[in-house]
Amino acid sequence: MALILGIETSCDETSAAVLEGNGDDVTQKSLIILSQDVHRVFGGVVPEIASRAHLTSIVPVVEKALAEAKVELGHLDAIAVTHAPGLVGALLVGLSYAKALALTLNIPLVGVHHMEGHLFAVALEHPDAKPPFTALLVSGGHTLLIDVEAWGSYKLLGSTRDDAAGEAFDKVAKMLGLPYPGGRYVEQLAASGSSSRFRFGRGMLRKNSLPNDDDYYAFSFSGLKTAVLNAVKASIDLESDKADIARAFQDSLIETLIEKTARAAAAFGRDRVVLGGGVACNNTLVKAMTARLESDNVKVFAPSPRLSTDNAAMIARAGFFRFEQGERSPLSLAAHASLPIPGLQAA
Ligand code: KG4
Ligand code: ZN
Repeated sequence: MALILGIETSCDETSAAVLEGNGDDVTQKSLIILSQDVHRVFGGVVPEIASRAHLTSIVPVVEKALAEAKVELGHLDAIAVTHAPGLVGALLVGLSYAKALALTLNIPLVGVHHMEGHLFAVALEHPDAKPPFTALLVSGGHTLLIDVEAWGSYKLLGSTRDDAAGEAFDKVAKMLGLPYPGGRYVEQLAASGSSSRFRFGRGMLRKNSLPNDDDYYAFSFSGLKTAVLNAVKASIDLESDKADIARAFQDSLIETLIEKTARAAAAFGRDRVVLGGGVACNNTLVKAMTARLESDNVKVFAPSPRLSTDNAAMIARAGFFRFEQGERSPLSLAAHASLPIPGLQAA
């Protein structure tokens, strides 16, 4: 049995969690997430403000996670911390704090890749969400389609050529006058929209595309974003059109995500699909993906919203796997704005 503290500060959530476990049997003992609402005023994350907010909240957030788990610092076996990718100034707050803790407690430090954390999130809730499976990670900064042969052994099938899925949601939200981050507001608005008034293209989703084509698994959302912008500009009554525009945008984006994921699951003979990242909060996406893949006998696993968006439990879970593999990070571990997931190979 190992007891691990996870720390996440890559963007605008200060989060800490305690997990206890052995192999695939891991229990979440606590999870604290402090979201920095201040960025709403600016319509996007302001890096310098994010770092300062992490500084003021990291100590109480970690203390609360330990108290809720009824664990004392001296009981911990290791500290897992996000060191990439993300805002370097934000990452450095969590990373420096984790290093100081590991040094004073004389326990191992395990650096975790944020996207590997998203990959592990649903495993905390569904014991069956384990490899082999097809993974679709959709967040504010990434859109990754990955074949997961085993934990730690990843094949990158496709990624976005331009905007990430969450980024497209956020930009469209802005065009429609919705708050930041806009994904969930677009989903809410789309629910009352008509699917037949507008139709936007499906980027890189050609019917006659073949597995060897380089766009077979790739994503592109910038054309869709421009189509939305044109519809917004052409509208004479945006208030009455915006739900229909949101609906057409979401229909296009979701269909692309689903079809590319279905292609990957079929090509690799996987009977499980695992979703991760903030856009996996989108219930319309999860429902449509589940219904579409049911006919192929593929089961879809999506984390609950709390574990889909940025949180330290997923970081502790991925760190737990790395810790059990014998991985230890040096105290010189650096923060990186971008870095490939460890074990990720090009297809
Ligand atoms: O994984 P995450 O919390 O942070 C990153 O690592 O980027 O993802 C945040 C993204 C934002 O773009 C947000 O708009 C999007 O997740 N998001 C959603 C929904 N809830 C959050 N997108 C679509 N529909 C939602 N319901
Ligand atoms: Zn994330």
